[in-house]
Amino acid sequence: MTILVTGATGTIGRHLVRTLTDAGEHVRAVSRAPGDAALPDGVDVVGADLADPSTLGAHLFRDVDRVFVFPADKGVPDLVEAAVTAGIERFVVLSSLAAAAEFPRDLGSASYVHHHAVEEAVRSRTDGWTFLRPGTFSTNLLSWAWPIKAGGPVRAPYVLSAQAPIHEADIADAAAAALTRDDLAGTTHALTGPQSLTRVEQVAAIAAGIGRDVAIVEITPEEFREEVGRFVPDDIVSMLLRYWSDTVTEPDRVRPGVTDLTGRPGRTLEQWAVDHRADFLS
Ligand SMILES: NC(=O)c1ccc[n+]([C@@H]2O[C@H](COP(=O)([O-])OP(=O)(O)OC[C@H]3O[C@@H](n4cnc5c(N)ncnc54)[C@H](OP(=O)(O)O)[C@@H]3O)[C@@H](O)[C@H]2O)c1
Repeated sequence: MTILVTGATGTIGRHLVRTLTDAGEHVRAVSRAPGDAALPDGVDVVGADLADPSTLGAHLFRDVDRVFVFPADKGVPDLVEAAVTAGIERFVVLSSLAAAAEFPRDLGSASYVHHHAVEEAVRSRTDGWTFLRPGTFSTNLLSWAWPIKAGGPVRAPYVLSAQAPIHEADIADAAAAALTRDDLAGTTHALTGPQSLTRVEQVAAIAAGIGRDVAIVEITPEEFREEVGRFVPDDIVSMLLRYWSDTVTEPDRVRPGVTDLTGRPGRTLEQWAVDHRADFLS
Protein backbone atom coordinates (compact mmCIF):
# COMPACT_ATOMS: atom_id res chain seq x y z
CA MET A 1 0.00 0.00 0.00
CA THR A 2 1.23 3.56 -0.73
CA ILE A 3 0.46 6.17 1.92
CA LEU A 4 0.88 9.90 1.34
CA VAL A 5 2.03 11.53 4.59
CA THR A 6 1.74 15.29 4.98
CA GLY A 7 3.57 16.82 7.96
CA ALA A 8 6.09 14.00 7.44
CA THR A 9 9.08 15.98 8.74
CA GLY A 10 7.29 17.08 11.92
CA THR A 11 7.42 15.66 15.43
CA ILE A 12 4.56 13.22 14.84
CA GLY A 13 5.25 12.76 11.12
CA ARG A 14 8.79 11.42 11.60
CA HIS A 15 7.54 8.73 13.99
CA LEU A 16 4.68 7.92 11.64
CA VAL A 17 6.90 7.57 8.57
CA ARG A 18 9.29 5.28 10.49
CA THR A 19 6.44 3.13 11.86
CA LEU A 20 4.82 2.74 8.45
CA THR A 21 8.07 1.88 6.65
CA ASP A 22 9.04 -0.58 9.41
CA ALA A 23 5.66 -2.26 8.80
CA GLY A 24 6.49 -2.61 5.10
CA GLU A 25 4.25 0.17 3.77
CA HIS A 26 5.42 2.44 0.98
CA VAL A 27 5.45 6.09 2.09
CA ARG A 28 5.36 9.21 -0.05
CA ALA A 29 6.32 12.09 2.25
CA VAL A 30 5.40 15.73 1.61
CA SER A 31 7.72 18.57 2.62
CA ARG A 32 8.15 22.18 1.55
CA ALA A 33 11.90 21.53 1.71
CA PRO A 34 12.32 17.97 0.39
CA GLY A 35 16.10 18.32 0.14
CA ASP A 36 16.34 18.78 3.93
CA ALA A 37 13.75 16.16 4.91
CA ALA A 38 16.26 13.53 6.15
CA LEU A 39 13.71 10.71 6.12
CA PRO A 40 14.55 6.97 6.02
CA ASP A 41 15.85 5.31 2.84
CA GLY A 42 13.05 4.07 0.64
CA VAL A 43 10.72 6.96 1.46
CA ASP A 44 9.64 8.86 -1.65
CA VAL A 45 10.05 12.51 -0.59
CA VAL A 46 8.12 15.02 -2.71
CA GLY A 47 8.13 18.80 -2.57
CA ALA A 48 4.78 20.54 -2.09
CA ASP A 49 3.35 23.44 -0.10
CA LEU A 50 -0.23 22.92 1.04
CA ALA A 51 -0.66 26.70 1.03
CA ASP A 52 0.13 26.79 -2.72
CA PRO A 53 -2.39 24.69 -4.70
CA SER A 54 -0.20 24.89 -7.82
CA THR A 55 2.24 22.52 -6.06
CA LEU A 56 -0.43 19.84 -5.47
CA GLY A 57 -0.03 18.14 -8.85
CA ALA A 58 -1.26 14.69 -9.88
CA HIS A 59 2.25 13.22 -9.33
CA LEU A 60 1.68 13.54 -5.57
CA PHE A 61 -1.25 11.14 -5.65
CA ARG A 62 -0.09 8.60 -8.25
CA ASP A 63 -0.68 5.06 -6.87
CA VAL A 64 -1.59 6.49 -3.44
CA ASP A 65 -4.17 4.49 -1.45
CA ARG A 66 -4.46 6.57 1.73
CA VAL A 67 -3.54 10.03 2.98
CA PHE A 68 -2.44 11.28 6.39
CA VAL A 69 -3.70 14.86 6.63
CA PHE A 70 -1.60 17.22 8.75
CA PRO A 71 -3.66 20.26 9.91
CA ALA A 72 -1.47 22.85 8.21
CA ASP A 73 -2.49 26.47 8.71
CA LYS A 74 -3.68 26.72 5.11
CA GLY A 75 -4.44 24.42 2.20
CA VAL A 76 -6.14 21.32 3.65
CA PRO A 77 -9.28 21.88 1.48
CA ASP A 78 -7.09 22.05 -1.65
CA LEU A 79 -5.18 18.92 -0.63
CA VAL A 80 -8.38 16.95 -0.07
CA GLU A 81 -9.94 18.21 -3.29
CA ALA A 82 -6.89 17.17 -5.31
CA ALA A 83 -6.72 13.77 -3.60
CA VAL A 84 -10.43 13.02 -4.07
CA THR A 85 -10.15 14.07 -7.72
CA ALA A 86 -7.26 11.60 -8.03
CA GLY A 87 -9.59 8.84 -6.74
CA ILE A 88 -8.35 8.52 -3.14
CA GLU A 89 -11.02 7.41 -0.67
CA ARG A 90 -9.26 7.10 2.72
CA PHE A 91 -8.05 9.99 4.87
CA VAL A 92 -6.70 9.93 8.43
CA VAL A 93 -6.74 13.44 9.87
CA LEU A 94 -4.68 14.87 12.72
CA SER A 95 -7.18 17.07 14.55
CA SER A 96 -7.50 18.08 18.21
CA LEU A 97 -9.68 17.24 21.19
CA ALA A 98 -10.72 20.91 21.07
CA ALA A 99 -12.67 20.09 17.86
CA ALA A 100 -15.06 17.99 19.95
CA ALA A 101 -16.13 21.19 21.75
CA GLU A 102 -16.81 19.21 24.94
CA PHE A 103 -16.20 22.24 27.13
CA PRO A 104 -17.39 25.86 26.90
CA ARG A 105 -13.71 26.90 26.74
CA ASP A 106 -13.30 25.08 23.41
CA LEU A 107 -15.94 26.92 21.44
CA GLY A 108 -14.37 29.92 19.79
CA SER A 109 -10.83 28.96 20.85
CA ALA A 110 -8.10 29.19 18.21
CA SER A 111 -7.65 25.42 18.33
CA TYR A 112 -11.38 24.66 17.95
CA VAL A 113 -11.81 27.07 15.05
CA HIS A 114 -8.82 25.69 13.15
CA HIS A 115 -9.31 21.95 13.72
CA HIS A 116 -13.08 22.08 13.23
CA ALA A 117 -12.47 23.73 9.83
CA VAL A 118 -9.89 21.07 8.95
CA GLU A 119 -12.31 18.26 9.86
CA GLU A 120 -15.11 19.89 7.86
CA ALA A 121 -12.86 20.27 4.81
CA VAL A 122 -12.42 16.50 4.80
CA ARG A 123 -15.91 15.42 5.92
CA SER A 124 -17.55 17.60 3.26
CA ARG A 125 -15.64 15.82 0.43
CA THR A 126 -15.60 12.15 1.45
CA ASP A 127 -17.07 9.53 3.75
CA GLY A 128 -13.66 7.89 4.08
CA TRP A 129 -12.39 9.98 7.00
CA THR A 130 -10.96 9.00 10.36
CA PHE A 131 -10.37 11.82 12.84
CA LEU A 132 -7.66 11.60 15.49
CA ARG A 133 -8.29 14.10 18.26
CA PRO A 134 -5.31 14.32 20.63
CA GLY A 135 -5.41 16.42 23.77
CA THR A 136 -2.42 18.35 25.03
CA PHE A 137 0.96 17.13 23.72
CA SER A 138 3.82 16.23 26.07
CA THR A 139 6.01 18.27 23.72
CA ASN A 140 4.27 21.40 25.03
CA LEU A 141 6.28 20.77 28.21
CA LEU A 142 9.48 21.47 26.29
CA SER A 143 8.75 25.07 27.32
CA TRP A 144 10.19 23.95 30.69
CA ALA A 145 13.44 22.76 29.08
CA TRP A 146 15.21 26.09 29.35
CA PRO A 147 14.66 26.68 33.11
CA ILE A 148 15.45 23.02 33.84
CA LYS A 149 18.67 23.20 31.79
CA ALA A 150 19.60 26.38 33.64
CA GLY A 151 19.16 24.53 36.94
CA GLY A 152 16.33 26.77 38.07
CA PRO A 153 12.75 26.00 39.06
CA VAL A 154 9.88 25.69 36.62
CA ARG A 155 7.54 28.67 37.00
CA ALA A 156 3.90 27.84 36.22
CA PRO A 157 0.38 29.01 37.05
CA TYR A 158 -2.37 26.63 38.26
CA VAL A 159 0.10 24.04 39.55
CA LEU A 160 -2.72 21.81 40.86
CA SER A 161 -4.51 21.64 37.52
CA ALA A 162 -4.26 18.18 35.96
CA GLN A 163 -3.73 17.22 32.32
CA ALA A 164 -3.05 13.95 30.49
CA PRO A 165 -0.19 14.83 28.10
CA ILE A 166 0.33 12.47 25.18
CA HIS A 167 3.64 11.23 23.74
CA GLU A 168 4.06 12.12 20.05
CA ALA A 169 5.01 8.51 19.31
CA ASP A 170 1.62 7.36 20.61
CA ILE A 171 -0.18 9.75 18.25
CA ALA A 172 1.96 8.40 15.42
CA ASP A 173 1.28 4.78 16.40
CA ALA A 174 -2.47 5.50 16.54
CA ALA A 175 -2.24 7.15 13.11
CA ALA A 176 -0.33 4.19 11.66
CA ALA A 177 -3.01 1.82 12.95
CA ALA A 178 -5.79 4.00 11.54
CA LEU A 179 -4.04 4.23 8.16
CA THR A 180 -3.53 0.49 7.82
CA ARG A 181 -6.88 -0.79 9.17
CA ASP A 182 -9.94 -1.16 6.93
CA ASP A 183 -12.72 -0.75 9.51
CA LEU A 184 -12.32 2.84 10.70
CA ALA A 185 -13.99 5.04 8.07
CA GLY A 186 -16.35 7.53 9.71
CA THR A 187 -14.82 7.14 13.19
CA THR A 188 -13.39 9.66 15.64
CA HIS A 189 -10.77 8.87 18.29
CA ALA A 190 -9.96 10.97 21.35
CA LEU A 191 -6.31 10.44 22.30
CA THR A 192 -4.56 11.32 25.58
CA GLY A 193 -1.66 10.09 27.64
CA PRO A 194 -2.28 7.24 30.12
CA GLN A 195 -2.24 9.38 33.30
CA SER A 196 -3.92 12.60 34.40
CA LEU A 197 -1.22 14.45 36.36
CA THR A 198 -1.14 17.76 38.18
CA ARG A 199 1.53 20.13 36.96
CA VAL A 200 3.43 19.37 40.18
CA GLU A 201 3.27 15.66 39.25
CA GLN A 202 4.29 16.46 35.66
CA VAL A 203 7.45 18.18 36.91
CA ALA A 204 8.14 15.18 39.16
CA ALA A 205 7.70 12.78 36.21
CA ILE A 206 10.15 14.81 34.12
CA ALA A 207 12.60 14.95 37.04
CA ALA A 208 12.41 11.15 37.38
CA GLY A 209 12.85 10.68 33.62
CA ILE A 210 15.94 12.87 33.35
CA GLY A 211 17.40 11.89 36.72
CA ARG A 212 17.62 15.39 38.17
CA ASP A 213 15.76 17.25 40.95
CA VAL A 214 13.44 19.92 39.54
CA ALA A 215 11.46 22.40 41.66
CA ILE A 216 8.22 24.12 40.66
CA VAL A 217 7.17 27.61 41.75
CA GLU A 218 3.57 28.78 41.36
CA ILE A 219 3.12 32.12 39.62
CA THR A 220 -0.07 34.07 39.01
CA PRO A 221 -1.86 34.04 35.64
CA GLU A 222 -0.86 37.69 35.26
CA GLU A 223 2.80 36.85 35.83
CA PHE A 224 2.53 34.05 33.23
CA ARG A 225 0.99 36.41 30.69
CA GLU A 226 3.74 38.93 31.38
CA GLU A 227 6.52 36.31 31.07
CA VAL A 228 5.40 34.58 27.84
CA GLY A 229 3.48 37.43 26.18
CA ARG A 230 6.53 38.46 24.19
CA PHE A 231 6.77 35.01 22.55
CA VAL A 232 3.21 33.63 22.43
CA PRO A 233 0.17 35.26 20.77
CA ASP A 234 -2.38 36.67 23.20
CA ASP A 235 -5.25 34.38 22.11
CA ILE A 236 -3.05 31.32 22.72
CA VAL A 237 -2.03 32.60 26.18
CA SER A 238 -5.71 33.13 27.03
CA MET A 239 -6.59 29.64 25.73
CA LEU A 240 -3.87 28.06 27.89
CA LEU A 241 -4.82 29.97 31.05
CA ARG A 242 -8.48 29.03 30.62
CA TYR A 243 -7.54 25.37 30.08
CA TRP A 244 -5.35 25.21 33.18
CA SER A 245 -7.88 27.11 35.29
CA ASP A 246 -10.69 24.73 34.24
CA THR A 247 -8.61 21.62 34.89
CA VAL A 248 -8.05 22.54 38.54
CA THR A 249 -11.66 21.67 39.29
CA GLU A 250 -12.21 19.23 36.42
CA PRO A 251 -8.98 17.35 35.69
CA ASP A 252 -8.41 16.01 32.17
CA ARG A 253 -9.86 12.54 31.75
CA VAL A 254 -7.72 9.77 30.30
CA ARG A 255 -9.22 8.64 26.97
CA PRO A 256 -9.02 5.11 25.57
CA GLY A 257 -8.10 6.02 21.96
CA VAL A 258 -4.44 4.99 22.01
CA THR A 259 -5.21 1.60 23.55
CA ASP A 260 -8.22 1.08 21.27
CA LEU A 261 -6.17 1.73 18.14
CA THR A 262 -2.79 0.24 19.07
CA GLY A 263 -3.78 -2.53 21.49
CA ARG A 264 -1.50 -1.22 24.27
CA PRO A 265 -1.52 1.64 26.77
CA GLY A 266 0.18 4.90 25.90
CA ARG A 267 3.67 5.83 27.08
CA THR A 268 3.92 7.55 30.48
CA LEU A 269 5.18 11.11 30.89
CA GLU A 270 8.24 9.73 32.67
CA GLN A 271 8.99 7.62 29.57
CA TRP A 272 8.53 10.72 27.40
CA ALA A 273 11.08 12.56 29.57
CA VAL A 274 13.52 9.65 29.20
CA ASP A 275 13.07 9.92 25.41
CA HIS A 276 13.68 13.70 25.62
CA ARG A 277 16.52 13.65 28.15
CA ALA A 278 18.81 15.54 25.78
CA ASP A 279 16.29 18.38 25.49
CA PHE A 280 16.30 18.92 29.28
CA LEU A 281 19.99 18.46 30.09
CA SER A 282 22.72 20.85 29.05
N1 LIG B 1 0.34 21.03 20.83
C1 LIG B 1 -0.78 20.44 21.19
O1 LIG B 1 -1.06 20.25 22.39
C2 LIG B 1 -1.73 19.97 20.12
C3 LIG B 1 -2.94 19.34 20.51
C4 LIG B 1 -3.81 18.88 19.51
C5 LIG B 1 -3.47 19.01 18.16
N2 LIG B 1 -2.29 19.64 17.82
C6 LIG B 1 -1.96 19.76 16.36
O2 LIG B 1 -0.71 19.14 16.13
C7 LIG B 1 0.08 19.98 15.29
C8 LIG B 1 1.56 19.79 15.62
O3 LIG B 1 2.01 18.53 15.16
P1 LIG B 1 3.60 18.28 15.10
O4 LIG B 1 4.16 18.60 16.46
O5 LIG B 1 3.89 16.96 14.49
O6 LIG B 1 4.02 19.46 14.07
P2 LIG B 1 5.44 20.06 13.74
O7 LIG B 1 6.54 19.28 14.38
O8 LIG B 1 5.38 21.53 13.98
O9 LIG B 1 5.57 19.81 12.16
C9 LIG B 1 4.86 20.56 11.22
C10 LIG B 1 4.83 19.77 9.94
O10 LIG B 1 3.88 20.33 9.04
C11 LIG B 1 4.48 20.53 7.78
N3 LIG B 1 3.88 21.71 7.18
C12 LIG B 1 3.54 22.86 7.80
N4 LIG B 1 3.00 23.73 6.92
C13 LIG B 1 3.01 23.11 5.71
C14 LIG B 1 2.61 23.49 4.40
N5 LIG B 1 2.08 24.71 4.16
N6 LIG B 1 2.77 22.61 3.39
C15 LIG B 1 3.32 21.39 3.63
N7 LIG B 1 3.72 20.97 4.85
C16 LIG B 1 3.56 21.82 5.86
C17 LIG B 1 5.97 20.68 8.05
O11 LIG B 1 6.69 20.23 6.92
P3 LIG B 1 7.90 21.01 6.19
O12 LIG B 1 8.39 22.07 7.14
O13 LIG B 1 8.91 19.92 5.92
O14 LIG B 1 7.29 21.55 4.94
C18 LIG B 1 6.16 19.71 9.22
O15 LIG B 1 6.37 18.40 8.74
C19 LIG B 1 -0.37 21.41 15.64
O16 LIG B 1 -0.13 22.27 14.52
C20 LIG B 1 -1.84 21.23 15.91
O17 LIG B 1 -2.57 21.38 14.69
C21 LIG B 1 -1.43 20.11 18.76
